Amino acid sequence: MTEAPVKESLNRSPTTRTMAMHSDTNPAGDIFGGWVLSQMDIAAGICAGQRSQGRVVTAAIDGMHFYRPVRVGDILGVYTTVTRIGTSSMDILVEAWVRRDRIGSREKVTDATFTFVAVDDDGKPVAIPPKDEIPQYVKDKFGDL
Ligand SMILES: CC(C)(COP(=O)(O)OP(=O)(O)OC[C@H]1O[C@@H](n2cnc3c(N)ncnc32)[C@H](O)[C@@H]1OP(=O)(O)O)[C@@H](O)C(=O)NCCC(=O)NCCS
Repeated sequence: MTEAPVKESLNRSPTTRTMAMHSDTNPAGDIFGGWVLSQMDIAAGICAGQRSQGRVVTAAIDGMHFYRPVRVGDILGVYTTVTRIGTSSMDILVEAWVRRDRIGSREKVTDATFTFVAVDDDGKPVAIPPKDEIPQYVKDKFGDL
């Protein structure tokens, strides 16, 4: 099995945390990959929206790897880091970790880079504000870009 690269995300709180339930399983009884992807998109959207201080859309998802399965009863924590800021687009490194069966060991299960685009009310791209215009808590939580 491919080894998950170790990232130093765990020294901060996750952007989202939830528990995998029976209703999230595929026909084989494992957690459906699409559910995990959805949780990652939600977390990345929170991060991107706070960095841009406005509405965002998912433009692309790159390099998604599933290293380990997620199982019913695992707590899924999703960590997000802004890794690139463009004019209206930004890249978010999204890492999903589980704590097995609520209280067991932590394992990284998935990561990917999500590209989000800041948009206006009509869905048209708008410039992301410079970092000195965003609140300190956003820099502390999502990276200093
Ligand atoms: C993302 C979207 C707003 C871009 O609109 P557009 O008119 O093509 O925008 P532009 O060509 O002017 O590009 C704007 C920025 O988006 C980036 N971008 C556009 N499409 C991209 C893609 N597929 N992957 C990565 N970046 C992309 C551009 O590089 C540019 O970045 P920059 O401003 O930092 O230089 C538009 O394609 C869209 O609304 N897509 C659907 C998004 C959506 O509904 N997501 C949810 C799916 S369920």
